[in-house]
Amino acid sequence: MNARARGGAMAFTSLALPTLVWILVAWLVALHFFTGWISSPSAATARSNRRKDRDNPVARLSDLLRYSELEEIEEIPVFSVRSSSGKKHKKSSKSAKSAISDDPLSELSPDRRLFYFPDRNLAAVDPSSSSEEERDFFFPGREWRDVNGLPIQAHGGGILYTPETRTFYWYGENKQGPTYRLHKKSSARVDLIGISCYSSQDLWRWKNEGLVLKADTTNTSSDLHTSNVAERPKVIFNNHTRQFVMYLHIDNANYSKASVGIATSSSPLGPFTYLGSTKPHGFDSRDMTIFKDEDDGSAFLVYSSQSNSELHISQLTPDYLGLSPAVSRALVNQHREAPAVFKHGNFFYMITSGCTGWWPNQALLHAAESMLGPWETLGDPCVGASDEFRLTTFFSQVAFVLPLPGLRDLFVFVADRWNPGNLSDSRYVWLPLTIDGRLDGPPEDDSFEFPMWSRVSVRWHRKWKLPEHWKNASLDDDEGEISL
Ligand code: GAL
Repeated sequence: MNARARGGAMAFTSLALPTLVWILVAWLVALHFFTGWISSPSAATARSNRRKDRDNPVARLSDLLRYSELEEIEEIPVFSVRSSSGKKHKKSSKSAKSAISDDPLSELSPDRRLFYFPDRNLAAVDPSSSSEEERDFFFPGREWRDVNGLPIQAHGGGILYTPETRTFYWYGENKQGPTYRLHKKSSARVDLIGISCYSSQDLWRWKNEGLVLKADTTNTSSDLHTSNVAERPKVIFNNHTRQFVMYLHIDNANYSKASVGIATSSSPLGPFTYLGSTKPHGFDSRDMTIFKDEDDGSAFLVYSSQSNSELHISQLTPDYLGLSPAVSRALVNQHREAPAVFKHGNFFYMITSGCTGWWPNQALLHAAESMLGPWETLGDPCVGASDEFRLTTFFSQVAFVLPLPGLRDLFVFVADRWNPGNLSDSRYVWLPLTIDGRLDGPPEDDSFEFPMWSRVSVRWHRKWKLPEHWKNASLDDDEGEISL
């Protein structure tokens, strides 16, 4: 190198080092933006893709889901709680947690309104007057109205789908009466009114079909007298007898009768004929459900027994009107109630709540290879939102898990957000329940034989809707089933 060149190189090195660094940084930033720009589709492309999916009724469900419908997952901030003086003060997460241990049912609790209805002032979900942007969206916890603009009264319910008419029937407790307590310490209640039925083809617009099982207003010795309790109705269809069979929790006002009632109808719209109540195999039975395995038509009664300390499971007779002799005990000493059963592949899953009356608590997921057990407890399926939301099942109690016809890995988690101060204003918390992958990784040594439970998640969404064309997608798929 000659002297001039050496001098130039030295000058370049000494003069331009900071400048060089800045040039390098600027170059890296520019590169980052450029590669980001070429690798992500433009907003216009994304919009046109969504439009294509909307216009294509046989679009894969996985593609549909990738887009907008389930996107609104959000973290719910820790509540800022009002003190009894009415002044708003920010709580640290530690003190906010301790608010949960206050008696939320007490009229004096400043937190009661916040815990039960943080969104009380938000608009109702009202298919009779909803705007285009809100159409088909579920808003868990908001008041939900039927197609005539009246609040849906179907609490603690269950949903039956009939493929022939492609119609869903939602049966639940009608609680549209004044809430009162018989004694200072007894549970809040409303007089028994009956079991409502609502019908829908899209799970969002519900038509009130009236009371399919009515309270008895005169005969005080009737199970269905207004002074008694009829809760958690569930209906299944018997393919052989062509009867719709309803099971429900029958009790007296202090919950000491602890029985299960049966009613039948030849139409999903009722009226149902009440056949009476029984203590199954002589055991007390409070919160309960029935589950029909659509693969073989077998059906089961699952109920909380032995003072709610364990669940009992019995298979129903082929006509679904009686119980077979075997009783299987599950979740012994776990004190679980509100069982909701669903099947995925060859496995059975169940979500339960703890036993705290109207006050919400943590949900647990259980799994078994056979309905009669053994049942294994897998943990809390709730995902997203805040600790407070997860530890209280999003301030709700499970009532049912609804399989979506033709869709294998997407269910609807159906729960109640009870309002013990005004039970008729209790709300519904519907959320997508998804099944994806295995809970455990593949075993290192596959000579061990143990069930590989799937990962079941109930994910919080403030606002969500089912995938576009979910019904068409399920009906048009060649194999009859689409997985996510
Ligand atoms: C809950 C039960 C509800 C209702 C309530 C009455 O434990 O799940 O269905 O019975 O108690 O307090």
